[in-house]
Amino acid sequence: MLTIDPRTSEAVSAYVAGWAVSRGAPRPTPVALGWHVATGQAHESERYVPVRGSVDDVRGIADGLRTPLACLKFAGRYDDWRPHFGTEWEDNPIGWFMTCELGDASRVDVTDKVLVRRTGALITAEIRGDDDVIATGRTGLVGDWCVPDRIRTVEAHRRRGFGRAIMDALLTAAYDCGVRHAVLDASQDGRALYAATGWTTLAPQFGLTRSGRHADRAG
Ligand SMILES: CC(C)(COP(=O)(O)OP(=O)(O)OC[C@H]1O[C@@H](n2cnc3c(N)ncnc32)[C@H](O)[C@@H]1OP(=O)(O)O)[C@@H](O)C(=O)NCCC(=O)NCCS
Repeated sequence: MLTIDPRTSEAVSAYVAGWAVSRGAPRPTPVALGWHVATGQAHESERYVPVRGSVDDVRGIADGLRTPLACLKFAGRYDDWRPHFGTEWEDNPIGWFMTCELGDASRVDVTDKVLVRRTGALITAEIRGDDDVIATGRTGLVGDWCVPDRIRTVEAHRRRGFGRAIMDALLTAAYDCGVRHAVLDASQDGRALYAATGWTTLAPQFGLTRSGRHADRAG
């Protein structure tokens, strides 16, 4: 029977917590089979992230998620899981959960072009050109995990090492805070960068958003 791979539970749980830190979302609350975040943003009302369970379990969760723009996200292959959900759910962009272990070798001499700031459990990194920001990124810290997020290089400056420099700076700062594991949800571009810098793919990420059109607004 189709199930969420339980070997992904720890890393995906860390991902949810660190993502919430990065996005300034409310702290995830433990619920049946995973985590719930009361996101409350214009593009996403709430988020449910099951980290274990069968297809019937996950369908049950989906049936209970009635608010427009509710998001359901978990580790799973699109082709395996999509047939089990109806047209009231819209596909999120494809992604992959990726992980990386941090050791002494993760510390690098960060170029002074990268401006790193830490505010509580959030570390941000930025590279500026003469006039504008060239590349940015951030990572939420949760225990000995960090969750890099919003890694971005302005299009005109891509493939010149800025994305790598941002990630090096974030992971070095996180390592210095005691972090030893990293997990993130990679886009297609991001996956290429991370695969080239020592990350491994844990599982495909499957995400759906309940459309406003079909949602039960009374719920
Ligand atoms: C992903 C992103 C941040 C990469 O930034 P970048 O500054 O171009 O990355 P770098 O120049 O440091 O790349 C380092 C290495 O990663 C790999 N890499 C990065 N982007 C790649 C791509 N699109 N395709 C293939 N390999 C890629 C290459 O091995 C590259 O080394 P090389 O240029 O010597 O071959 C950038 O493409 C981006 O902003 N994309 C849109 C936002 C996004 O998807 N962010 C990731 C969210 S998870």
